[in-house]
Amino acid sequence: MRWWDDYGLYVIVVIFTALLTADVVIDLGLTDPITHNPKFETHKVRFSEVKPVFENRCKSCHYQPHWDWTKYETAYPKRHTIKTRVWVLRNMPAGGKITEDERKLIRDWVNDGGLQ
Ligand code: HEC
Repeated sequence: MRWWDDYGLYVIVVIFTALLTADVVIDLGLTDPITHNPKFETHKVRFSEVKPVFENRCKSCHYQPHWDWTKYETAYPKRHTIKTRVWVLRNMPAGGKITEDERKLIRDWVNDGGLQ
């Protein structure tokens, strides 16, 4: 008798259940409830929601007209650069005074198409 004659099936069932559970957790976005999961998330972030973040976290430096992210007309054309700096490179805001949720909000606004 080898050990797997007794426990082989049990081990396979446990491994399968673990893989299946992991898949469901990732699928439902349970690992990160704030992330927009296209399967379940219908809410799209609009500019009115990110504007306060630009106001509070960026405007102290970005106040010149061509740099003022609190204006939709200025922020929209620059949205991909904004997302790259805030979410990917994370070198904006300079000084780093921002929360993770605010970074995600900016990312989601861009991912949702930069709606007005
Ligand atoms: C403490 C000052 C400061 C704050 C606060 C700040 N920035 Fe900046 N930002 C700068 C400076 C200085 C530059 C130009 C140098 C550089 O590109 O790093 C810049 C450049 C940028 C650029 C590149 C602009 C371009 O035309 O390519 C983007 C995008 C940007 N910032 C986004 C943001 C966003 C979004 C915030 C707020 C979440 C923010 N910044 C907050 C100082 C700041």
